[in-house]
Amino acid sequence: MSKEGESSDGRMGVWLDMWDNGGMSEFQVNKPHPKIQEHYEFYTSGNPDATLFFPLCGDMHDMVVLGGKGHTIVGVECSETGIKTFFNKNKIEFTEEKCDAVKGKCFKSKDGRYRMYSCDIFDFNKSAEG
Ligand SMILES: C[S@@+](CC[C@H](N)C(=O)[O-])C[C@H]1O[C@@H](n2cnc3c(N)ncnc32)[C@H](O)[C@@H]1O
Repeated sequence: MSKEGESSDGRMGVWLDMWDNGGMSEFQVNKPHPKIQEHYEFYTSGNPDATLFFPLCGDMHDMVVLGGKGHTIVGVECSETGIKTFFNKNKIEFTEEKCDAVKGKCFKSKDGRYRMYSCDIFDFNKSAEG
């Protein structure tokens, strides 16, 4: 990437621009998604400690709901603004560090329960998670 979140074909440029210039409000839903509630048992396999993966996560409200139940949340989002919005609006303190494995950065809550990668989804791979 030449700069934050920008891939060689620029496919993320529209999203980065929307996050940075106030165009994301139509996508931001500040309440739990009914389907995520409905299928909870299925995608956690009934495991209350399951780590849950949210590709293209933005600042999705369900992440804080599920993190609050005790799940570890791993998100991938190209916009650092989107990730910081998630942490700030939920008043979760975080650190950020470069992450070469995804050609981006990793933002983590202090307790490590929330881990958000700012990168192109096509650059994400499990090695970042160890
Ligand atoms: C329609 S929004 C969905 C946000 C979230 N899943 C929700 O339901 O609230 C799509 C999100 O994917 C991110 N995104 C788009 N292309 C991406 C890519 N190639 N890699 C990582 N994130 C990307 C955008 O910045 C945006 O936040």
